[in-house]
Amino acid sequence: MRARIIPVADSGDTVPEDTVVRDLLRETPPRLPPWLGYDETGSRLFERITELPIYHLTRVERRLLERHSPEIAKLLACERLAELGSGSAKKTRLLLESHLRLHLRRRPGPTAAATATATATAYLPIDVDRSMLETSAAALCADLDGLEVTGLWGRYEAGLEWLRTHPGGPLAVAFLGSGFGNATRAERDALLGEIARTLGRGEGLLLSADLDKGREALETCYNDPPGHSAFADFRLNYLTRLNDRYGADFALDDFVPDAVYNAETSTVEGRLRALTDQEVSVPGLGITLGLPRGALLNVGYSVKFDEQRLAREVGAHGFALRSRWLDEEARYGLFLFRRHED
Ligand SMILES: C[S@@+](CC[C@H](N)C(=O)[O-])C[C@H]1O[C@@H](n2cnc3c(N)ncnc32)[C@H](O)[C@@H]1O
Repeated sequence: MRARIIPVADSGDTVPEDTVVRDLLRETPPRLPPWLGYDETGSRLFERITELPIYHLTRVERRLLERHSPEIAKLLACERLAELGSGSAKKTRLLLESHLRLHLRRRPGPTAAATATATATAYLPIDVDRSMLETSAAALCADLDGLEVTGLWGRYEAGLEWLRTHPGGPLAVAFLGSGFGNATRAERDALLGEIARTLGRGEGLLLSADLDKGREALETCYNDPPGHSAFADFRLNYLTRLNDRYGADFALDDFVPDAVYNAETSTVEGRLRALTDQEVSVPGLGITLGLPRGALLNVGYSVKFDEQRLAREVGAHGFALRSRWLDEEARYGLFLFRRHED
């Protein structure tokens, strides 16, 4: 089956991308939205981060999915699986395989292949990086018989809006890679509201979350080990994006990337620190940024949860925690919520 990629347009309610970037650059300290970092280069750099020996998140999540996908697929019991920020979808593949196996078993037919094709299961990845969406969708279609992939190219809100206006069989939403933690509390609340409006009663939301493990472990996890530059390159790519997209004149050598843990908010903050006094013009947004030496630009939040905090936050939007799976050291979890009536 061939994959389709559909550009999803923001609806009138969504704040336009340029306005988001301009408003965040005006905050103190200035920050950049996570999605801006993911073009073809940014996605490739993120994949390099996932291969760093110190970055446990991807490996632990993969192991959890290897072990528990059959059970999760059964509990999700959906015909359409949408995913927010699907990226390479390498881990989601495990869930989709379990899902297809289950589907085949439920509907026995003359031959497995013929039945799979006749009762296609839909995967609807939503991502801002078109190149990654195309590559991952093509690979899944080539390898998984009976899977129909419709990539929704755009921001989460636009993808969810598309789902609301294109109803189909039972739906579930996955949000893996602990992407939920890459937003502020207000942004997470707004997004949960959108997800809740998209899912019907009884439908599932599968979220993964990295759990708080204190400063030392987290600062080790989010900074490059000696001899590597994946995090540094990924963070600096935000400036390249501003230069390319808005004609800004950031000099990448004038910034040092790092990440620190903020214990008050249980958040790892990815930053770029100015090495010199500078005035950077961003003509495409009609602004100039005054950055004195030592000024910080925030290029990424990673909120660390505890189970209760996560259940409370998601629960406030009409979801009940149904099951959860943690690794042996309780460093990381997959959490399955079910939508109930408000
Ligand atoms: C941290 S990566 C995780 C990728 C994948 N889920 C994984 O676990 O490996 C985040 C992904 O979400 C996408 N993304 C980030 N913010 C987004 C947004 N607001 N709307 C759509 N896609 C977004 C990025 O392009 C990227 O592919």
